[in-house]
Amino acid sequence: MNEIIEKAKCFHKLDKEEIVSLLKNNSINKELFQTADEVRRKYVGDEVHLRGLVEFSNICKQNCLYCGLQKNNGNVERYRLSEEEIFDFAQKAVGYGYKTLVMQSGEDGYFSTEKLVKIIKKVKTLDVAVTMSIGECPKEDYKAFKEAGANRFLLRIETTDPVLYAKMHPNMSHENRMRCLKDLQELGYETGTGCLVGLPEQTLESLADDILFFKELNADMIGIGPFIPNQDTPLKDAEGGTFELALKVMAITRLLLPDINIPATTAMETLDPKGRLIALQSGANVVMPNVTEGDYRKKYLIYPGKICLNDTPAHCRGCITGKISSIGRTVSKD
Ligand code: SAM
Ligand code: FES
Repeated sequence: MNEIIEKAKCFHKLDKEEIVSLLKNNSINKELFQTADEVRRKYVGDEVHLRGLVEFSNICKQNCLYCGLQKNNGNVERYRLSEEEIFDFAQKAVGYGYKTLVMQSGEDGYFSTEKLVKIIKKVKTLDVAVTMSIGECPKEDYKAFKEAGANRFLLRIETTDPVLYAKMHPNMSHENRMRCLKDLQELGYETGTGCLVGLPEQTLESLADDILFFKELNADMIGIGPFIPNQDTPLKDAEGGTFELALKVMAITRLLLPDINIPATTAMETLDPKGRLIALQSGANVVMPNVTEGDYRKKYLIYPGKICLNDTPAHCRGCITGKISSIGRTVSKD
């Protein structure tokens, strides 16, 4: 076996140079993916955890250069769900068997702390774990959401390279993003982060730093997705990330953080029709099917080619369960 992969498998530790050499060398990919799969099985088992994703607003005050929800994009039809709709979708998702819901939105100022607290409390009456993914907030807000019952928070660092971060995120700061992640951990959230793979000018060295950052932060969940250029953003002509490189970053992350949750991301399946299944066999153990109903799912267009836009949550639930069984894995009942 490749010595570096062997070392990572046994000690779950690599230095930057070793990570870069794995990222550079494509002849070891098969071995890397198989080893990440073995480590996943040993530490987190064969169960796949499903999280139902409620995309409750596509309105955003930020202008991340890569994101289709960015404020400057005039081509996206904006929506925000009412409290009743959010609860209705959450209730239906619980009916389909979801035990965790992820409440995701752009940074939409309409949803004040009070409104979100009310929504979280109501959703918690359904006896589900609640994950928030609503971007950067002051610590007091994160505290209020936690006290209302939120259990987890997802906030990708996107890139740990401060120069690239500044270029990609006008009027945002890398420091504040880091502050948010620290605050979330201090408040006792199960904290998830992650990165985009294939941003313009992003280097393999910078991706290695991202992986080392995940380890240093001791995150509970890491979501890694390829950057897919959106025609309605300033990065429309960028090359974008590849499925293979995103999969490699994910597999190395599994080797270094053996017992965390790693989703097989929707963006991966956008680039490869079997993307999520391949990811589940290369280190991932979570899938986040969309439980937003109706036309809304077509409007939450972060990047083009997003999967399942015309499907219903009921269909997605059955479809993903079938796919998971087809690779000999089971959906967790926890
Ligand atoms: N506003 C929240 C936040 O910033 O965390 C959550 C919503 S945001 C749309 C969710 C994730 O979408 C981001 O963390 C980013 O990594 C991903 N994303 C945005 N644009 C993308 C693109 N063009 N390709 C792939 N993923 C993208
Ligand atoms: Fe909304 Fe980046 S465009 S948080």
